[in-house]
Amino acid sequence: MESADFLKQLDALAAEATRAFESAGDAEALEAARIAFLGAKRGRLKTIQKQMGSLAKADRPTAGRRFNEVKKAIESAFQAASRRLGGAEPATASPATPFDPTLPGAPVRIGRLHPITQTIEELKDIMGRLGFSVADGPEIEDEWHNFEALNIPLEHPARDPLDNFYLAAARRSACAKTLLLRSQTSTVQIRVMEKTPPPVRIISLGRVYRPDTADATHYPMFHQMEGLLVDTHVTMADLKSVLRLFAASYLGGDVHIRFRPSFFPFTEPSVEADFYWDGEWIEFGGAGMVDPNVLRAVGYDPENVVGFAFGLGIERLCMRRHGITDIREFYKNDVRFLHQF
Ligand code: FA5
Repeated sequence: MESADFLKQLDALAAEATRAFESAGDAEALEAARIAFLGAKRGRLKTIQKQMGSLAKADRPTAGRRFNEVKKAIESAFQAASRRLGGAEPATASPATPFDPTLPGAPVRIGRLHPITQTIEELKDIMGRLGFSVADGPEIEDEWHNFEALNIPLEHPARDPLDNFYLAAARRSACAKTLLLRSQTSTVQIRVMEKTPPPVRIISLGRVYRPDTADATHYPMFHQMEGLLVDTHVTMADLKSVLRLFAASYLGGDVHIRFRPSFFPFTEPSVEADFYWDGEWIEFGGAGMVDPNVLRAVGYDPENVVGFAFGLGIERLCMRRHGITDIREFYKNDVRFLHQF
């Protein structure tokens, strides 16, 4: 199209629209005229605007300027007519910036699950496929479930007030029991065995609390996944196989893990499990064969049943999986970090 023809059409449209608005006798007629000239989809102004694309490139700046002037003039004529008819300007009047569905959208930021919650869901899924069902236990525990039943007697250093969060309020109250924030999810082993006859095959995932100084791999509140399997024929080889299968499934088939001899009062023999990460071995859990004293404490007969148990640090697994080098990142609540998961 020639530029001169385009400009002529624009002027004619401006005159025609102004006449239509001025002659509108009531709000209904005015609205019909508005739709005819200013309608966002098929209004005549819109139709002319589309023709601008067929002009020579060099003519487009002048044509664009003229188009904007005419558009403003038509909108003013509409507003004047609207005032003349005594109404407030209708809400449907053409907005200053009409909605353009072809422009790129601005993303809407929605909330999402915390990376640790996502990890917990994934771990449940993996262990579910290995036949373990989920059990829960309280975060405020008594000394029986956190220590005694786990073969940690009164004089044991693991019960030191400096290593645990005892609840002073509970001590002062009429409640005879000393309570504490559980220091390990092994408490749930006891709770499950107390009310379930063997065989048992459970995991339990949740928060635990220790007065540890925060550093890159320690936090005073963290999460563990406990596992317990009790049956008639269970061996250390089964324990190692389950942990290897789990680690390969969550961290990838090429992960290196190793087991080191260790000690826990509630397992014998005991091991600690490490994964290899960036030239270092990082401990991610403890495990072992359930000590006969623990089986006896819950009323099981250690002559008839045997079991293995493990307790893994969920933060450390998640860190290794996502390459997070500092555990404190999880709990800063910095959305720039959290939005990456
Ligand atoms: C225990 O808590 C034992 N209950 C594990 C167990 C269960 C052994 C069943 C045998 C049978 P440990 O204190 O080592 O063990 O903790 C287990 C894992 O929790 C550690 O390997 C580590 O991954 C994680 N962990 C321990 N302390 C912290 C901490 N302060 N911050 C983050 N993760 C921690």
